[in-house]
Amino acid sequence: MCGIYGYVGHKSEAANTVLDGLKLLEYRGYDSWGVAAKIKDERLEMKGGFLTEKHVGKIGDSHLNFQLSTFNSHLAIGHTRWATHGGVTVANAHPHTDCKAQIAVVHNGIVENFQELKTYLLKKGHKFISETDTEVIPHLIEENLKREGFASSVRDAFNALRGLNAIVAVNAGSSEIVVAKNGSPLIIGIGDQEFFVSSDVIGIVEHTKKVIFLKDLEMVILGNPPAGGIQLLSLPEGNKLEIKPEQITWSYEISTKGKFDDFMIKEIHEQPNVVRNIAGNYTSQIEKLAKEIQNSKGTFFIGAGTAYHAGFSGNYLFSKIAKIHVNTSVASEFNYLEDFLTRDSLIIALSQSGETIDVVEPLNRAKKKGSKIFAITNTLGSTIYRMADYNMLLNAGPEKAVASTKAYIAKVSVILMLAYVLIGKTNEAKNILLKTADEIERLLSETTVDDIKKIAKALSVSKNVYAIGRGVSYPSALEAALKIKEVTYIPTEGLAGGELKHGTIALISKGVPCIVFAPMDETYESVISNAIEIKSRGGVIIGISPKKAEVFDHFVEVKDVDSGSYIAQVVVAQLLAYYMAIDLKLDADKPRNLAKSVTVK
Ligand code: F6R
Repeated sequence: MCGIYGYVGHKSEAANTVLDGLKLLEYRGYDSWGVAAKIKDERLEMKGGFLTEKHVGKIGDSHLNFQLSTFNSHLAIGHTRWATHGGVTVANAHPHTDCKAQIAVVHNGIVENFQELKTYLLKKGHKFISETDTEVIPHLIEENLKREGFASSVRDAFNALRGLNAIVAVNAGSSEIVVAKNGSPLIIGIGDQEFFVSSDVIGIVEHTKKVIFLKDLEMVILGNPPAGGIQLLSLPEGNKLEIKPEQITWSYEISTKGKFDDFMIKEIHEQPNVVRNIAGNYTSQIEKLAKEIQNSKGTFFIGAGTAYHAGFSGNYLFSKIAKIHVNTSVASEFNYLEDFLTRDSLIIALSQSGETIDVVEPLNRAKKKGSKIFAITNTLGSTIYRMADYNMLLNAGPEKAVASTKAYIAKVSVILMLAYVLIGKTNEAKNILLKTADEIERLLSETTVDDIKKIAKALSVSKNVYAIGRGVSYPSALEAALKIKEVTYIPTEGLAGGELKHGTIALISKGVPCIVFAPMDETYESVISNAIEIKSRGGVIIGISPKKAEVFDHFVEVKDVDSGSYIAQVVVAQLLAYYMAIDLKLDADKPRNLAKSVTVK
């Protein structure tokens, strides 16, 4: 979360370069943004000080009113924020500065001991103007500068921080950018007479393909070329390390909305081809993963949010199809379940972005225990991609909407195929996936979408929504609820059909809607009984099923495509969520308080 970008070099438009970089990083947080540029300008009688510009909200078309773009500058840093400490205000936006506004810092992470550091700095007479944890960093550097040089001041300030952090610091008295990281990703781009620093390689590849993926506890000093070079140092000591840049061999696909109004709906429509691609091209990769599962003593799926739901459906699919037990854990909880991990354990990490810190952290700990990591991600070169022993890329294309859709469908397709491959039924899996892709395509036809839009309209005025399913449809219910709540802000709960009567049914009253997943499997009759229980209390039932039941007030037919039904049925929920957001006039692509890449704990 939070995007960091920095530039030092021969170009005189450093502020604009940083702004363009930030636009590419906006998916990491869009509460506010800011840029600090080192300016030499006679109009301002400035001989190397900083001008800082900060705004609340999304970057959007900020070139239109971006004041810093009118000044020459060879060095600038910027930040797009996902708020952790302190509200969404201009004062809390980054960059943050010291008492004299001579040092500027952008930060990704959480300074866990910031209160303690702030108390110490207040006693020393430092003045704070924000509510953020970040602000302690420039003041610490300011304090250190009284007795040492800039780079070592940054190093010592960084060493004093607890938690997982990445920082970029600049100082009016120097033409260097100093970068340090432990946790959140930072990549250095080495160009011709210029350096870049970015939270994601996407912000760098259009300028240079020569990069350094900084490791944890590394620090970099970027001088202004040609005089200033690059130094890589270890933390906490600051010992010199050898620089081994990597050459990026891929380019990024720039995603546009095409004929669609939003990325979310565009990505939903891309799903038939995502599924077909897995059916057609993944056999050998999936066979490799199947072998790893067979050789391991204990397989664990981990993921966050939607990725967790995909893994959780694996519990059921593996049991049902392959008769194999796997464990699935919410990634952020996996640390507390790690005691039984051994060298023979296999962790299958699911992550669209490949950057989620809640996934990265337990993987680091599992690696220390010698367990094997198999990453299933959608992002080449991401942190999880690079740290894994084995990789599988989903190749679903860039997912821009914050709410994950096609990556979920891709992950469940892989897991479903894996379950069949484990019992030698690869061709059966392929046929099921191909039928599933066709069924998703049918669901995306104008007629079905029009029906779904009508249901979405009715749902969008609800105060709360429920979704139930049993067996593999239980994860579908969880995913449906997550999709609806995150893009509509309507409290929505997904639960196992059988759990209703253990408490939640108390919340059902006249007109409360409940989405019921009722595929033609062993759960059909029981889940219909649960629907009847809800209806008896005044609830309104939205049935998603191959077979219309009397209890349904609204019905969306999802044809029976065997175990592929568990994939297709979720697409209806995605469409409901999207059209509800549209009815509510909300930004479906960038829901409030969220970010596409979650890099803080
Ligand atoms: C919900 C959603 C999130 C992500 C979660 C993990 O629609 O997108 O719940 O699934 O933040 O992200 P990745 O898959 O990038 O690790």
